[in-house]
Amino acid sequence: MDQEYLQESIEQFLCEANCLKTYTHCIAVGDYACKLAERFMADPHKAQIAGYLHDISAIYPDDQRVAVANKMGIALCKEELTLPMIIHQKISREIALGQFNITDLEILSAIECHTTLKGNYSTLDLVVFIADKIKWDQDGEPPYITGLMTALDHSLESAAYYYIDYLLNHDIQVIHPWLNEAYVKLKQQLESA
Ligand SMILES: [Fe+2]
Ligand SMILES: [Fe+2]
Repeated sequence: MDQEYLQESIEQFLCEANCLKTYTHCIAVGDYACKLAERFMADPHKAQIAGYLHDISAIYPDDQRVAVANKMGIALCKEELTLPMIIHQKISREIALGQFNITDLEILSAIECHTTLKGNYSTLDLVVFIADKIKWDQDGEPPYITGLMTALDHSLESAAYYYIDYLLNHDIQVIHPWLNEAYVKLKQQLESA
């Protein structure tokens, strides 16, 4: 799909649902993911598309996410029932597939694990995960930004590990199993490097 057309479709989709802020965030993440992909040898085009669509599920507020996921046939774990915010990564994947005709499994994977990462992450998954943390959806600079950027000078894995470690030592509400699997795998990989 043409990048410009995709961008316009996403803008229309999110603006109709009064999610203009999410649109701005999605484009920032997609464009930054594209640059990271060039730097770390992932597919820049796929990174950009995944970033553009990663938070497309913002049209559903947290209190609707369990019902929406059930309707879409998405399997949920108990951590997602405790904190429905996390479900938005899986719902975004379904919308990307069902409404934006994205069938590339690497793109869908990067969308699906952009919040928690997962144990068997790809370079593309890491790129989109990190882009979302650097170009975060809140005001001001993320509190972890300096350490994250320093870690990114070493590798994507170092940056992802730094971020998850930061999270685990701060105000994390629930530990999603994918986040834990990613943390363990990253630790192993960094120790063996
Ligand atoms: Fe997100
Ligand atoms: Fe995001």
